[in-house]
Amino acid sequence: MTPEILSLARYLASSRPEFTLSEMNQYLSRKYSEKELYDALKPHFYDLDLFCDARHNCTKLANLPLPADEQVIRELEDTLKAPQLPPSIEKLVSSYIERSCGKNWHTGETAHLLRENIVKQKEEYWRGSSKYPKLRVITYLLYHFPVYFCQFQYVLLDLLKSGLLTTKMSVVDAGAGPGTITLSTIEFFHRLLEIYSKNKIDVKINLRIDSVEKVQDNIDCYNDLTSHYLSQHPQANAVITVNKPDRAPIEKAAPAPNADLIVFSNVLAEMKAAPFERADIVETSASGSSNPTIIIIEPADLVNSKALRVTQNALVKKGFTIYSPCTLIWGAGCRGEDCWSFRGAGDITVPEFMRKIAGKEEVYRYLNTDMKFSYVILRKDGNAQHKYLGRGKFARLSALKKHVTKRINVAVSVMSGNLGDEKNFVFKICDGTTSVPCYAVIPAYHLNEKNNGLLHAGYGGIVEIFGVLVRENKEFSSYNLLINRSTIVEPVR
Ligand SMILES: C[S@@+](CC[C@H](N)C(=O)[O-])C[C@H]1O[C@@H](n2cnc3c(N)ncnc32)[C@H](O)[C@@H]1O
Repeated sequence: MTPEILSLARYLASSRPEFTLSEMNQYLSRKYSEKELYDALKPHFYDLDLFCDARHNCTKLANLPLPADEQVIRELEDTLKAPQLPPSIEKLVSSYIERSCGKNWHTGETAHLLRENIVKQKEEYWRGSSKYPKLRVITYLLYHFPVYFCQFQYVLLDLLKSGLLTTKMSVVDAGAGPGTITLSTIEFFHRLLEIYSKNKIDVKINLRIDSVEKVQDNIDCYNDLTSHYLSQHPQANAVITVNKPDRAPIEKAAPAPNADLIVFSNVLAEMKAAPFERADIVETSASGSSNPTIIIIEPADLVNSKALRVTQNALVKKGFTIYSPCTLIWGAGCRGEDCWSFRGAGDITVPEFMRKIAGKEEVYRYLNTDMKFSYVILRKDGNAQHKYLGRGKFARLSALKKHVTKRINVAVSVMSGNLGDEKNFVFKICDGTTSVPCYAVIPAYHLNEKNNGLLHAGYGGIVEIFGVLVRENKEFSSYNLLINRSTIVEPVR
């Protein structure tokens, strides 16, 4: 592109509320077709704050929080109620597998190799040191991709509800793998735009996604999947630019300038750096951005989940603030020690390609549908999902020792799903004051409308509990807070 086109576009964007691309020809030294001008300017729309529609009318795009009224949220939540890989994404992944491994990838020797690799990858993964030779990206698509894709959309939904998704966003997908987070984000925005359009809400979006990934096979897959998805699913109200991944270790990559959202999904645990040292890597990645939303996601298993809280705490010490899921109910205090907490979001429907590779024997080894993940959302500005602070009438969980066998009031975050069963509901609770595990326990026969708020608080939700009996569980070095029919649980909205 000649610099003339860009400088004219810059001038028009700053001096007029709208203009057409064809108009530009009046001022240029030679004539260009509208398509030529569009293609030349597309990579610059983001920096120019411009939105150019299919008719090549260009308007200035104001950066505003995306509308998140009740109707929009309800419709979006409806689409997430039966979680599954969207058919468009399932088709895309199937086609990539087929193009890479042949039409009959799910039979014979190829299937045998893929199954063997799925098992190996799982083992390496639990040890936190995956390697990704050639076939690895395919087994990743078959086994890990669907759940990670789906679970990320629940995190995006939280961000939307909180006003942290805006009309102009720069996203960084760190440790992008085959493009799980990038595709999940684009598909989420497409879903949202469809709901806006159905409800006649005029919203235009300018989204730019950059990524960092160290393995070439993963980059090839990323480029293939994202470019096919974008070309197959054009969106009238969105300009989405997915830049080619930066092939580098995150530790050495240049920090993205002014990112709004930086996502580390299932990547920090793969690094050799100790959990507290990973905070340095996150800090450097975020150093080019004034106030990004940083999301770190790790698997829910004990080791990775606990490691995440250590990294989180090291980041808090560096001045980052926790947006969610933890609320420091008494101000400061949490040391991120010995904390195993994860969110459960249910099971996804088995995608057809996963069913095919699972075959007929030992099927369970190849099916992965359970969405359980540990995560933290951080900011630099102190913004938090819950701005709740404890007051005098509540005891701190760090003081439970002196309240054993007594009835007390506490204000806590619910930090798990039901860890018990249908007869006894058990939820991990936390107020940020102690690393000794604490649980709220309700036998089903004590459930009533005054205390069942605990069951509906949701992961990270805050409840005030009045008249709960403190028991020490010496065997597990933990405390159980027993809720009976006279205990009152009030969810904090
Ligand atoms: C488990 S996969 C996660 C992929 C994707 N983020 C997701 O959630 O599905 C981890 C990815 O991070 C990449 N990775 C691991 N360590 C890295 C590093 N130090 N720098 C860049 N990429 C890294 C791996 O190559 C792999 O693609």
